[in-house]
Amino acid sequence: MSKRTIVSMPGDGIGKTVLPEAIRVLDAVGFDADYVHADIGWEFWCKEGNPLPQRTLDLLEKHHYCLFGAITSKPKSDAAKELAPELQDKGFVYYSPIVGLRQHFDLDICMRPCKTFKGNPLNFIRRGKGNTIEEPEVDVMVFRQNTEGLYGGVEWTNPPDNVYEALKSHPKFKKFAEAPREELAVSTRIFTKHYTERIVRAAFEYAKKFGYKSVTVCEKPNVIRETSGMMLSLAKAIAKEYPGIALWDTNIDAQMMWLTKNPEDYGVIVSGNMFGDIVSDGFAGLVGGLGFACSANIGKDVAIFEPTHGSAPKYETLEPSIVNPIAMILSACMMLDHIGENEKADKIRKAIADVVEEGKVRAYDMMKLKGSQGVLKEGAASTTEMTDAIIAKLK
Ligand code: NAI
Ligand code: MG
Repeated sequence: MSKRTIVSMPGDGIGKTVLPEAIRVLDAVGFDADYVHADIGWEFWCKEGNPLPQRTLDLLEKHHYCLFGAITSKPKSDAAKELAPELQDKGFVYYSPIVGLRQHFDLDICMRPCKTFKGNPLNFIRRGKGNTIEEPEVDVMVFRQNTEGLYGGVEWTNPPDNVYEALKSHPKFKKFAEAPREELAVSTRIFTKHYTERIVRAAFEYAKKFGYKSVTVCEKPNVIRETSGMMLSLAKAIAKEYPGIALWDTNIDAQMMWLTKNPEDYGVIVSGNMFGDIVSDGFAGLVGGLGFACSANIGKDVAIFEPTHGSAPKYETLEPSIVNPIAMILSACMMLDHIGENEKADKIRKAIADVVEEGKVRAYDMMKLKGSQGVLKEGAASTTEMTDAIIAKLK
């Protein structure tokens, strides 16, 4: 296998801390790659008025695979204030560079695995029969449509004439028409057959490849009839091509309740953009939360791998850092899986599992401590110690 080139996009805050840790692990497992740095995030918004510079898009276009840390975003008004003085009032408008990346490269398939590591003190437990304590083993992969739906960006406050007229033509708009138009805020939820089919098919393909027994469409078709309804009916048709994989459907609200009752019953889950975001966070909470939650954003040409957590600015300047690098390292494993280096990915995941199960080296979140420099004195591992322990298990 020839040497790979991977785009490394640390971003802001703890993104800059955890990404190099993941690269250390990739080096240790023998993944042969060059890493090229790409700029993204708050610094570039402030200095250039663009958190996602064209040169970064060019690098991604050229090299295809990218590890991404996290970015900081702030409300519109704060964003405007922090712009360099020479850029103020020049019409620059802040937008989320990660949403921008998903749209630009059409990264329509988002995967978020939520898998229990044995011995993780953060694992969900529940009361069983006869007052026993049960620790269900969760093994879920959420497929979230990443570019459409409620995050598609088609929205208005005080909608323009043509939009308002179109809305008025819908019989159910009557009650909204009683409000002054300038007091209306409208966010649309648009699904297309093409992308809905792609995400559902990706979910079934994954279930087939890895032997999951069910695919659950998690939406709300009884109320959101058109969009959720489209996903469910496409899933019913596609399911016929996958005998042996059961198609279940749950409503997002009920699913959020059930996931603490019987999470071990679920396998692959597929949802639209917002519900996929919600249900994956819910499942991630059962298996360790933000220190463990990893994700992949996959398009036809480009794929970006990132932890679910943000830039956690309050920990940015702690020296040594205390944040858990596992979510970022697991995201790097997803990259290895994606490019066919599954053995190396499995090896890293096994090393993480060993460290977690052994329980000797634990980041502060795994010790249920409140994050501060003081946690190191209480026995928490620093970010680098956590990584070192994982690397030691690779040997
Ligand atoms: P956050 O995920 O940065 O932090 C929330 C809390 O989770 C932290 O206070 C910390 O206790 C914990 N945490 C996060 N990562 C951790 C790790 N690796 N190990 C241990 N504990 C960890 O979310 P928050 O505070 O809401 O947002 C901070 C900034 O990040 C904001 O500017 C936000 O817009 C941005 N953000 C960016 C995301 C991205 O880049 N994809 C996603 C979420 C938020
Ligand atoms: Mg989220």
